[in-house]
Amino acid sequence: VPALEQEAENATVSQGAVESNHAGFSGTGFVNYDNVAGSSVEYTITADQGGEHELTFRYANGTTTDRPVSVTVDGAAAQTVSFPGTGAWTTWQTRTARVALHAGANKIKATATTANGGPNADKLSAVLVGPVDNEPP
Ligand code: GCU
Repeated sequence: VPALEQEAENATVSQGAVESNHAGFSGTGFVNYDNVAGSSVEYTITADQGGEHELTFRYANGTTTDRPVSVTVDGAAAQTVSFPGTGAWTTWQTRTARVALHAGANKIKATATTANGGPNADKLSAVLVGPVDNEPP
C-alpha cells in the first residue's frame, strides 16, 4: 500500500524553489513559494480507497501574516486553507482540510492567494476519514 503522503520537494512546483536552510523539515527539504499570488505546489496522493480524507499540510511561516492557499483536487473543489504565522521559519506546524479523494492518483494543488505567496511547505499527508466510496473514478 503506498503511503498517503508526499514531500513538497518531490511535488510539482510552479513559482517556488526547493530549499533546506531552515531546520526541522522532513525528507530532504521544503518548498519556498515565490512571494507572488499564483505560486503553487501540486502534490500527488495515491489513495487506495475513495472517500472523504483529511489532508494535513506541514508548514512554517516565520512572519505574522497569514499565507492562505487555495486547494483543489484534480482541478476542482477549491477551498481556502489558512497558514498563519508559526513564530519562526524553523517552527513547523500543521493545518488540515477535508476533501473527497478517489481511489488512485489525486492531484492536490495548493496555490497561494496573496502577494506574499504560500508558507514554506514541508509535506502533505492524507488519512481516510469518511465512508468508503468504491465507485470507479
Ligand atoms: C525568508 C525565509 C524564506 C521564506 C521567505 C518568505 O526569506 O528565509 O524561507 O520563504 O522569507 O517570506 O517567503
